[in-house]
Amino acid sequence: MTEKKDRGGFYITTPIYYVNDVPHIGHAYTTIACDALSRWHRTMGGRTRFLTGTDEHGQKIEQAAQKRGMTPIELCDEVVVNIQKLWPLLEVSNDDFIRTTEERHTKVVQYFFKTLLDKGDIYKGNYEGWYCLPCETYFPDAQVGDDKMCPDCGRALTKMSEESYFFRLSNYEEKLTAHYEKHPDAIMPKARYNEVMSFIRGGLQDLSVSRTTLKWGIPVPGDDKHVVYVWLDALINYISALGYPKPGDLWEEYWPDARHMVGKDIIRFHAVIWPAILMAMDLNPPVRVFAHGWWTVEGDKMSKSKGNVVDPFEMTELYGADAFRYFLLREVPFGNDGDFSELGMVHRINSDLANDLGNLLNRTLQMIEKYRGGRLPGDDCLERIKEIDRSVALMAERVIVQMDGEMEEFAVDSALKTLWTLISAGNKYIDETEPWKLGKIGKDNPDEPDGRLDAVLRTLWEILRLSAILLSPFMPKTAVRIWTQLGLNPGAFETGSSAVCLRDWKWGHCPSAVDVKKGEVLFPRIDIPKWKEEKALRDAAKRAGAKALD
Ligand code: ME8
Repeated sequence: MTEKKDRGGFYITTPIYYVNDVPHIGHAYTTIACDALSRWHRTMGGRTRFLTGTDEHGQKIEQAAQKRGMTPIELCDEVVVNIQKLWPLLEVSNDDFIRTTEERHTKVVQYFFKTLLDKGDIYKGNYEGWYCLPCETYFPDAQVGDDKMCPDCGRALTKMSEESYFFRLSNYEEKLTAHYEKHPDAIMPKARYNEVMSFIRGGLQDLSVSRTTLKWGIPVPGDDKHVVYVWLDALINYISALGYPKPGDLWEEYWPDARHMVGKDIIRFHAVIWPAILMAMDLNPPVRVFAHGWWTVEGDKMSKSKGNVVDPFEMTELYGADAFRYFLLREVPFGNDGDFSELGMVHRINSDLANDLGNLLNRTLQMIEKYRGGRLPGDDCLERIKEIDRSVALMAERVIVQMDGEMEEFAVDSALKTLWTLISAGNKYIDETEPWKLGKIGKDNPDEPDGRLDAVLRTLWEILRLSAILLSPFMPKTAVRIWTQLGLNPGAFETGSSAVCLRDWKWGHCPSAVDVKKGEVLFPRIDIPKWKEEKALRDAAKRAGAKALD
């Protein structure tokens, strides 16, 4: 797997986020997961493109702006800065950031609309039905109960009637079913695939794709009483950002490899409406739509009114981007719902990062310093390797292949677990080879050649070097810190297309004459009783702040 000369392209996208709110753990989660997947692909030698952005039109934004006495674009310009500030703090390495108010996007939406109108896939009609304002969606009578509540979000629906353009979604029932039968991996996880299939088989109705009730949107070409429905507008971002419809490198290189990551609440937009629209345009549907689960917070639904919204800025400031990333990606089987607990994160930092990873690095570097004056033994010692050394080297090779398969399936949490089997094997290897005894024997006993200790130290150094590479998609800063302490040039870890490529850095593939540079402890242990006191003070300060705002 790692031998492939060209892994092909990998185009990964996050949903584009509404700008009516501050970024929260949900936004951070999707974006960090996409970042890890995109960095993984790059580390394995593939070409990647990673897109995120903001969804800036529609009623939600219009109303949020009104409330604050601003024009919608003023609100967008203000909030987008906050979102764009977060991604570098979280070490997110997106290649592009699209805003749906940019001209490169609006003109593609109009092109889509006009093409579908000319083809007859969009037609003008009249819409009467139950409308959910927060979801910006009409619901057919059949889906609305006596209480007239939104079947998706549970809030009250409003009866509305308006002239509208419709997309002939009903024409795509069979085509979508056939497509998904042929490509069962196109929707993941399996439970979401089944959910979407039964939704499609339950019958699709034509979709209202324009609104006359608001101004803040992209005008329908030739009929500017209407603006384009915000979801149609938003979905098109995935291809307007590639320069479609102009033929060009990005479009041709990446659209055939498109993967969308979304939260489970927006799977239907991505796995039903979007592919149908693409089919109507004679374009390929995405290769995969993956829906991840939702986070609760300390067992509760996250909401502003409960005051329990997890702020990614705060988490990053308190624990660092890498620990936060590690916790989010490792804690929950990717695709399932999860519960965020700060104490849970602290425990993971102590056990996995301070203990397992930190100790392996510390012990190894300490021994290289103590026994070899900080100079990594040369590769001639590899002639003296034993079965135990060979078996960790083989294990490392297996770990790479296994992680690669898991990342291909978006099983991000499993990939991290697999990496930790190597890190644990490294610690166990120290316990079993007892290098401190070899150090003594090597000096005092001429029968035990020094090379044995050299081989052990070198094996440990190799485990750490490979671990740093394999860790880099998940914890980019930590990888660089390990790399630097191992005495390697951190330039190799620059983000972007120059990331370390595993193909060139396999076991034993290391330079000669390396001097390790033991640095700061990677993750100092957090003292739990002290942490609890500080957390109580923080919570009290937050409560006081919220009261002052009431
Ligand atoms: O839906 N846990 O934008 P949005 C995990 N603009 N994920 C969560 C979450 C939680 N508690 N809460 C929200 C939109 N999310 C549209 C997308 S794409 C063409 C248009 C996730 O700002 C949610 O599932 O509401 C969604 O994927 C994203 O955060 C929210 O995006």
